[in-house]
Amino acid sequence: MTPRPLLLSLLLAAACGPSSSVDEGLGVVQELDTSEQGITAFVRSGDYKSWLAEPTVHDTRAPHGSKVRVFFNDLVVRSLRDGNATHPVGSILVKELFEDDGKTLRGHALDVKVTDGAGKDTWIFYEGFGPDYSNNYYGRAHSACHSCHSDGKDYVTTPLP
Ligand code: HEC
Repeated sequence: MTPRPLLLSLLLAAACGPSSSVDEGLGVVQELDTSEQGITAFVRSGDYKSWLAEPTVHDTRAPHGSKVRVFFNDLVVRSLRDGNATHPVGSILVKELFEDDGKTLRGHALDVKVTDGAGKDTWIFYEGFGPDYSNNYYGRAHSACHSCHSDGKDYVTTPLP
């Protein structure tokens, strides 16, 4: 692919993708660069794989792909154990999204708590698919994500394993 001028690429990304923004401008939260690019790099790195995880890949209850597995960072593990009504800034959950075979990874969803308190604005929601993660859902209070997640406690729907 021929490189495009940066501004043009950004405009095209904004026009083509479901992202509401390419960077919410919140910087690094709990070692995670919360720009769209930063989250893509993080999920692709697999660095979340050392976190507490659901023991197995299982059928999803949501239209995120057919099989899933959820990972929890330490902050949100503690908060869920404590039964908090809202989770601390830096809470991160990753959902691996698999093909029907339950083995081939298709993509990732990630939620990161970016400000204290309640409400959809306190989370950045992200979902992207391989191989290139070029057409991602990304944004604070993303309109494609918050509605189902408001059924959970502070937008978290998966119980601790
Ligand atoms: C139709 C309802 C629905 C929509 C819309 C939805 N989700 Fe989910 N999400 C769920 C359910 C149900 C789970 C529990 C795991 C499962 O069954 O897949 C879940 C789990 C997750 C998890 C793991 C943590 C948790 O809360 O359980 C993340 C991360 C996530 N979703 C991100 C997103 C993102 C990002 C979007 C928008 C692109 C989104 N979701 C849209 C229903 C939904």
